[in-house]
Amino acid sequence: MIALDKAHALIAEDMQAVNQLIGLRLSSDVALINQLGAYIINSGGKRLRPQLALLAAGALGYQGQKHQLIAAIIEFIHTATLLHDDVVDASEMRRGQETANALWGNEASVLVGDFLYSRAFEMMVEVGDMRIMEILAHATNTIAEGEVLQLLNCNDPDTTEARYLEVIRSKTAKLFQAATQLGAVLTGSDTKTEQAMADYGIHLGTAFQLIDDVLDYSATSKELGKNIGDDLAEGKPTLPLIYAMNTGNKEQTAIIRDAIENSGRDNMPAIIAAIKSTGAITYTADCAAKEAAKASKALADIPDTPYRQALLALAEFSVKRSF
Ligand code: IPE
Ligand code: IPE
Ligand code: MG
Ligand code: MG
Repeated sequence: MIALDKAHALIAEDMQAVNQLIGLRLSSDVALINQLGAYIINSGGKRLRPQLALLAAGALGYQGQKHQLIAAIIEFIHTATLLHDDVVDASEMRRGQETANALWGNEASVLVGDFLYSRAFEMMVEVGDMRIMEILAHATNTIAEGEVLQLLNCNDPDTTEARYLEVIRSKTAKLFQAATQLGAVLTGSDTKTEQAMADYGIHLGTAFQLIDDVLDYSATSKELGKNIGDDLAEGKPTLPLIYAMNTGNKEQTAIIRDAIENSGRDNMPAIIAAIKSTGAITYTADCAAKEAAKASKALADIPDTPYRQALLALAEFSVKRSF
Protein backbone atom coordinates (compact mmCIF):
# COMPACT_ATOMS: atom_id res chain seq x y z
CA MET A 1 0.00 0.00 0.00
CA ILE A 2 1.64 3.23 -1.17
CA ALA A 3 0.15 5.37 1.63
CA LEU A 4 1.68 3.18 4.26
CA ASP A 5 5.05 3.07 2.52
CA LYS A 6 5.17 6.86 2.28
CA ALA A 7 4.32 7.31 5.94
CA HIS A 8 6.88 4.64 6.83
CA ALA A 9 9.71 6.32 4.95
CA LEU A 10 9.07 9.66 6.61
CA ILE A 11 9.35 8.32 10.11
CA ALA A 12 11.58 5.31 9.51
CA GLU A 13 14.27 6.31 11.99
CA ASP A 14 11.78 7.24 14.66
CA MET A 15 9.93 3.97 14.16
CA GLN A 16 13.16 2.04 14.53
CA ALA A 17 13.72 3.78 17.86
CA VAL A 18 10.11 3.06 18.85
CA ASN A 19 10.50 -0.62 18.02
CA GLN A 20 13.70 -0.74 20.04
CA LEU A 21 11.92 0.86 22.98
CA ILE A 22 9.09 -1.61 22.66
CA GLY A 23 11.49 -4.56 22.73
CA LEU A 24 13.43 -3.14 25.67
CA ARG A 25 10.43 -2.23 27.79
CA LEU A 26 8.66 -5.50 27.16
CA SER A 27 11.20 -7.38 29.21
CA SER A 28 10.42 -8.93 32.55
CA ASP A 29 12.02 -11.44 34.92
CA VAL A 30 9.07 -13.68 34.27
CA ALA A 31 9.80 -15.89 31.27
CA LEU A 32 6.17 -16.30 30.17
CA ILE A 33 5.76 -12.53 29.87
CA ASN A 34 8.82 -12.31 27.62
CA GLN A 35 7.69 -15.27 25.55
CA LEU A 36 4.07 -14.30 25.04
CA GLY A 37 4.87 -10.59 24.85
CA ALA A 38 7.53 -11.10 22.17
CA TYR A 39 5.17 -13.40 20.27
CA ILE A 40 2.42 -10.81 19.94
CA ILE A 41 4.64 -7.75 19.60
CA ASN A 42 6.84 -9.26 16.89
CA SER A 43 3.98 -10.77 14.93
CA GLY A 44 3.77 -7.99 12.39
CA GLY A 45 1.07 -5.56 13.40
CA LYS A 46 0.73 -2.48 11.22
CA ARG A 47 1.98 -0.17 14.02
CA LEU A 48 -0.57 2.34 12.81
CA ARG A 49 -1.19 4.11 16.13
CA PRO A 50 2.48 4.80 16.95
CA GLN A 51 2.95 6.01 13.40
CA LEU A 52 0.05 8.41 13.85
CA ALA A 53 1.61 9.86 17.00
CA LEU A 54 4.94 10.37 15.23
CA LEU A 55 3.33 11.87 12.12
CA ALA A 56 1.12 14.24 14.11
CA ALA A 57 4.12 15.44 16.12
CA GLY A 58 6.13 15.78 12.89
CA ALA A 59 3.33 17.71 11.19
CA LEU A 60 3.52 20.30 13.96
CA GLY A 61 7.31 20.53 13.88
CA TYR A 62 8.16 18.59 17.05
CA GLN A 63 11.91 18.46 17.69
CA GLY A 64 12.31 16.37 20.86
CA GLN A 65 12.36 12.64 21.67
CA LYS A 66 9.30 12.19 23.83
CA HIS A 67 7.13 11.26 20.87
CA GLN A 68 9.01 7.96 20.59
CA LEU A 69 8.17 6.99 24.16
CA ILE A 70 4.55 8.04 23.64
CA ALA A 71 4.37 5.99 20.45
CA ALA A 72 5.68 2.92 22.30
CA ILE A 73 3.18 3.47 25.12
CA ILE A 74 0.33 3.63 22.62
CA GLU A 75 1.38 0.40 20.94
CA PHE A 76 1.57 -1.29 24.36
CA ILE A 77 -1.95 -0.15 25.19
CA HIS A 78 -3.16 -1.30 21.78
CA THR A 79 -1.48 -4.70 22.19
CA ALA A 80 -2.97 -5.14 25.66
CA THR A 81 -6.44 -4.48 24.24
CA LEU A 82 -5.83 -7.09 21.53
CA LEU A 83 -4.77 -9.74 24.06
CA HIS A 84 -7.93 -9.13 26.06
CA ASP A 85 -10.12 -8.70 23.00
CA ASP A 86 -9.12 -12.06 21.52
CA VAL A 87 -10.07 -13.77 24.77
CA VAL A 88 -13.44 -12.01 24.91
CA ASP A 89 -14.09 -12.67 21.20
CA ALA A 90 -12.78 -16.25 21.41
CA SER A 91 -10.61 -15.46 18.38
CA GLU A 92 -8.09 -17.99 17.18
CA MET A 93 -6.15 -16.05 14.60
CA ARG A 94 -4.47 -12.64 14.71
CA ARG A 95 -1.77 -11.13 12.52
CA GLY A 96 -1.68 -14.26 10.41
CA GLN A 97 -0.88 -16.61 13.23
CA GLU A 98 -2.55 -18.33 16.14
CA THR A 99 -3.72 -15.97 18.87
CA ALA A 100 -1.89 -15.91 22.19
CA ASN A 101 -5.00 -17.29 23.88
CA ALA A 102 -5.07 -20.20 21.44
CA LEU A 103 -1.46 -21.02 22.28
CA TRP A 104 -1.10 -20.15 25.96
CA GLY A 105 -4.72 -20.04 27.11
CA ASN A 106 -7.04 -17.29 28.29
CA GLU A 107 -5.46 -16.85 31.71
CA ALA A 108 -1.99 -16.11 30.34
CA SER A 109 -3.38 -13.72 27.71
CA VAL A 110 -5.40 -11.71 30.21
CA LEU A 111 -2.52 -11.48 32.66
CA VAL A 112 0.10 -10.50 30.09
CA GLY A 113 -2.41 -7.95 28.81
CA ASP A 114 -2.49 -6.55 32.35
CA PHE A 115 1.30 -6.48 32.35
CA LEU A 116 1.32 -4.45 29.14
CA TYR A 117 -1.27 -1.97 30.42
CA SER A 118 0.60 -1.44 33.65
CA ARG A 119 3.98 -1.20 31.89
CA ALA A 120 2.43 1.46 29.66
CA PHE A 121 1.42 3.36 32.79
CA GLU A 122 4.95 3.13 34.21
CA MET A 123 6.25 4.59 30.97
CA MET A 124 3.62 7.37 31.09
CA VAL A 125 4.97 8.46 34.43
CA GLU A 126 8.41 8.71 32.82
CA VAL A 127 7.04 11.17 30.30
CA GLY A 128 6.43 13.39 33.30
CA ASP A 129 3.58 15.49 31.97
CA MET A 130 0.20 15.43 33.69
CA ARG A 131 -1.71 16.53 30.58
CA ILE A 132 -0.23 13.69 28.54
CA MET A 133 -0.95 11.27 31.36
CA GLU A 134 -4.53 12.53 31.50
CA ILE A 135 -5.15 11.96 27.79
CA LEU A 136 -3.64 8.48 27.78
CA ALA A 137 -5.33 7.41 31.02
CA HIS A 138 -8.69 8.67 29.75
CA ALA A 139 -8.26 6.90 26.40
CA THR A 140 -7.39 3.62 28.12
CA ASN A 141 -10.40 3.93 30.39
CA THR A 142 -12.68 4.73 27.44
CA ILE A 143 -11.49 1.65 25.52
CA ALA A 144 -12.50 -0.51 28.49
CA GLU A 145 -15.90 1.20 28.56
CA GLY A 146 -16.31 0.57 24.83
CA GLU A 147 -15.53 -3.12 25.16
CA VAL A 148 -18.02 -3.46 28.04
CA LEU A 149 -20.68 -1.54 26.09
CA GLN A 150 -20.10 -3.89 23.18
CA LEU A 151 -20.51 -6.86 25.49
CA LEU A 152 -23.92 -5.47 26.42
CA ASN A 153 -24.85 -5.19 22.74
CA CYS A 154 -23.82 -8.77 22.00
CA ASN A 155 -26.78 -11.04 21.26
CA ASP A 156 -29.05 -7.98 21.16
CA PRO A 157 -30.58 -7.66 17.67
CA ASP A 158 -32.20 -4.35 18.65
CA THR A 159 -28.82 -2.64 18.88
CA THR A 160 -29.13 0.62 16.96
CA GLU A 161 -26.63 2.20 14.61
CA ALA A 162 -26.12 4.96 17.21
CA ARG A 163 -25.28 2.46 19.93
CA TYR A 164 -22.90 0.67 17.59
CA LEU A 165 -21.18 3.96 16.74
CA GLU A 166 -20.75 4.77 20.41
CA VAL A 167 -19.00 1.43 20.88
CA ILE A 168 -16.54 1.85 18.03
CA ARG A 169 -15.70 5.42 18.94
CA SER A 170 -14.84 4.24 22.42
CA LYS A 171 -13.14 0.93 21.81
CA THR A 172 -11.11 1.96 18.76
CA ALA A 173 -11.26 5.60 17.72
CA LYS A 174 -10.37 6.98 21.14
CA LEU A 175 -6.84 5.58 21.01
CA PHE A 176 -6.34 6.94 17.48
CA GLN A 177 -7.48 10.28 18.85
CA ALA A 178 -5.06 10.17 21.77
CA ALA A 179 -2.20 9.37 19.38
CA THR A 180 -2.80 12.35 17.13
CA GLN A 181 -3.86 14.79 19.85
CA LEU A 182 -0.67 14.06 21.75
CA GLY A 183 1.33 15.22 18.73
CA ALA A 184 -0.25 18.62 19.28
CA VAL A 185 0.17 18.55 23.05
CA LEU A 186 3.87 17.70 22.72
CA THR A 187 4.45 20.69 20.48
CA GLY A 188 2.58 23.06 22.78
CA SER A 189 0.13 23.86 19.99
CA ASP A 190 -2.84 26.16 20.50
CA THR A 191 -6.27 24.80 21.39
CA LYS A 192 -7.55 24.99 17.82
CA THR A 193 -4.67 22.93 16.46
CA GLU A 194 -5.00 20.41 19.27
CA GLN A 195 -8.71 20.09 18.50
CA ALA A 196 -7.96 19.64 14.79
CA MET A 197 -5.57 16.77 15.52
CA ALA A 198 -8.04 15.23 17.98
CA ASP A 199 -10.85 15.48 15.39
CA TYR A 200 -8.66 13.94 12.72
CA GLY A 201 -7.88 11.00 15.04
CA ILE A 202 -11.42 10.25 16.16
CA HIS A 203 -12.78 10.29 12.61
CA LEU A 204 -9.88 8.23 11.26
CA GLY A 205 -10.33 5.66 14.01
CA THR A 206 -14.07 5.44 13.39
CA ALA A 207 -13.48 4.88 9.66
CA PHE A 208 -10.86 2.27 10.50
CA GLN A 209 -13.22 0.23 12.72
CA LEU A 210 -16.14 0.53 10.26
CA ILE A 211 -13.91 -1.05 7.64
CA ASP A 212 -12.70 -3.65 10.12
CA ASP A 213 -16.32 -4.65 10.55
CA VAL A 214 -16.82 -4.81 6.78
CA LEU A 215 -13.70 -6.95 6.40
CA ASP A 216 -15.04 -9.41 8.97
CA TYR A 217 -17.56 -10.37 6.26
CA SER A 218 -15.81 -9.60 3.02
CA ALA A 219 -12.06 -10.17 3.36
CA THR A 220 -10.04 -13.32 3.02
CA SER A 221 -8.57 -14.50 6.27
CA LYS A 222 -5.21 -14.91 4.55
CA GLU A 223 -4.98 -11.23 3.66
CA LEU A 224 -6.62 -9.94 6.83
CA GLY A 225 -4.61 -12.21 9.12
CA LYS A 226 -7.72 -12.86 11.20
CA ASN A 227 -10.51 -15.40 10.88
CA ILE A 228 -13.54 -14.18 8.97
CA GLY A 229 -16.91 -14.38 10.70
CA ASP A 230 -15.62 -13.88 14.24
CA ASP A 231 -18.14 -11.07 14.79
CA LEU A 232 -21.05 -13.26 13.72
CA ALA A 233 -19.79 -16.14 15.82
CA GLU A 234 -19.99 -13.88 18.87
CA GLY A 235 -23.42 -12.47 18.00
CA LYS A 236 -21.86 -9.02 17.57
CA PRO A 237 -24.27 -6.57 15.95
CA THR A 238 -21.87 -4.58 13.77
CA LEU A 239 -23.11 -2.11 11.17
CA PRO A 240 -23.15 -4.48 8.16
CA LEU A 241 -25.39 -6.82 10.13
CA ILE A 242 -27.59 -4.06 11.60
CA TYR A 243 -28.14 -2.54 8.16
CA ALA A 244 -28.87 -5.87 6.46
CA MET A 245 -31.29 -6.82 9.21
CA ASN A 246 -33.16 -3.52 9.00
CA THR A 247 -33.40 -3.39 5.22
CA GLY A 248 -33.58 -7.07 4.24
CA ASN A 249 -36.71 -9.07 3.43
CA LYS A 250 -38.58 -11.01 6.11
CA GLU A 251 -36.52 -14.13 5.70
CA GLN A 252 -33.18 -12.28 5.74
CA THR A 253 -34.20 -10.31 8.83
CA ALA A 254 -35.20 -13.50 10.59
CA ILE A 255 -31.94 -15.38 10.00
CA ILE A 256 -29.84 -12.39 11.01
CA ARG A 257 -31.90 -11.84 14.17
CA ASP A 258 -31.47 -15.48 15.04
CA ALA A 259 -27.71 -15.40 14.41
CA ILE A 260 -27.29 -12.33 16.65
CA GLU A 261 -29.44 -13.80 19.40
CA ASN A 262 -27.88 -17.22 19.37
CA SER A 263 -24.30 -16.54 18.21
CA GLY A 264 -23.10 -18.82 15.49
CA ARG A 265 -21.63 -19.15 12.03
CA ASP A 266 -24.24 -21.73 10.98
CA ASN A 267 -26.04 -19.45 8.54
CA MET A 268 -22.90 -17.60 7.48
CA PRO A 269 -23.33 -18.09 3.68
CA ALA A 270 -26.96 -16.88 3.70
CA ILE A 271 -26.04 -13.98 5.96
CA ILE A 272 -23.16 -12.92 3.75
CA ALA A 273 -25.53 -13.10 0.77
CA ALA A 274 -28.02 -10.88 2.64
CA ILE A 275 -25.31 -8.42 3.60
CA LYS A 276 -24.26 -8.17 -0.03
CA SER A 277 -27.70 -8.01 -1.61
CA THR A 278 -29.04 -5.39 0.79
CA GLY A 279 -26.03 -3.17 0.07
CA ALA A 280 -24.90 -3.33 3.70
CA ILE A 281 -21.23 -3.51 2.73
CA THR A 282 -21.55 -0.46 0.51
CA TYR A 283 -23.52 1.40 3.16
CA THR A 284 -20.92 0.70 5.84
CA ALA A 285 -18.03 1.53 3.51
CA ASP A 286 -19.78 4.81 2.62
CA CYS A 287 -20.06 5.66 6.31
CA ALA A 288 -16.33 4.97 6.61
CA ALA A 289 -15.59 7.18 3.61
CA LYS A 290 -17.58 10.02 5.20
CA GLU A 291 -15.62 9.64 8.43
CA ALA A 292 -12.33 9.63 6.52
CA ALA A 293 -13.40 12.78 4.67
CA LYS A 294 -14.11 14.45 8.03
CA ALA A 295 -10.66 13.34 9.21
CA SER A 296 -9.01 14.95 6.20
CA LYS A 297 -11.08 18.10 6.56
CA ALA A 298 -9.93 18.48 10.15
CA LEU A 299 -6.38 18.96 8.83
CA ALA A 300 -7.37 21.86 6.56
CA ASP A 301 -5.46 24.47 8.57
CA ILE A 302 -2.43 22.33 9.42
CA PRO A 303 0.67 23.46 7.48
CA ASP A 304 1.07 21.45 4.30
CA THR A 305 4.14 19.29 4.83
CA PRO A 306 4.96 15.70 3.85
CA TYR A 307 3.78 14.74 7.36
CA ARG A 308 0.36 16.22 6.72
CA GLN A 309 0.30 14.49 3.34
CA ALA A 310 1.06 11.19 5.05
CA LEU A 311 -1.79 11.75 7.51
CA LEU A 312 -4.13 12.44 4.60
CA ALA A 313 -2.91 9.30 2.86
CA LEU A 314 -3.61 7.27 6.00
CA ALA A 315 -7.18 8.55 6.02
CA GLU A 316 -7.51 7.17 2.51
CA PHE A 317 -5.84 3.90 3.54
CA SER A 318 -8.27 3.43 6.41
CA VAL A 319 -11.11 3.12 3.90
CA LYS A 320 -9.36 1.29 1.06
CA ARG A 321 -7.48 -1.21 3.17
CA SER A 322 -7.96 -4.94 2.87
CA PHE A 323 -5.75 -5.90 5.83
C1 IPE B 1 -7.00 -4.27 15.22
O1 IPE B 1 -6.27 -3.12 14.92
C2 IPE B 1 -8.07 -3.91 16.19
C3 IPE B 1 -9.03 -2.94 15.64
C4 IPE B 1 -9.25 -1.81 16.18
C5 IPE B 1 -9.80 -3.29 14.47
P1 IPE B 1 -5.15 -3.14 13.80
O2 IPE B 1 -5.73 -3.61 12.51
O3 IPE B 1 -4.47 -1.82 13.79
O4 IPE B 1 -4.17 -4.26 14.34
P2 IPE B 1 -2.64 -4.54 14.05
O5 IPE B 1 -1.90 -3.90 15.17
O6 IPE B 1 -2.26 -3.98 12.72
O7 IPE B 1 -2.55 -6.04 14.08
C1 IPE C 1 -11.14 -4.36 18.41
O1 IPE C 1 -12.40 -4.70 18.00
C2 IPE C 1 -11.15 -3.26 19.42
C3 IPE C 1 -10.17 -3.42 20.46
C4 IPE C 1 -9.19 -4.27 20.40
C5 IPE C 1 -10.31 -2.61 21.65
P1 IPE C 1 -12.59 -6.02 17.15
O2 IPE C 1 -12.88 -7.17 18.04
O3 IPE C 1 -13.54 -5.76 16.05
O4 IPE C 1 -11.16 -6.19 16.52
P2 IPE C 1 -10.58 -7.49 15.84
O5 IPE C 1 -11.43 -7.76 14.66
O6 IPE C 1 -10.64 -8.56 16.87
O7 IPE C 1 -9.18 -7.08 15.47
MG1 MG D 1 -11.98 -8.97 18.28
MG1 MG E 1 -13.28 -7.02 14.12
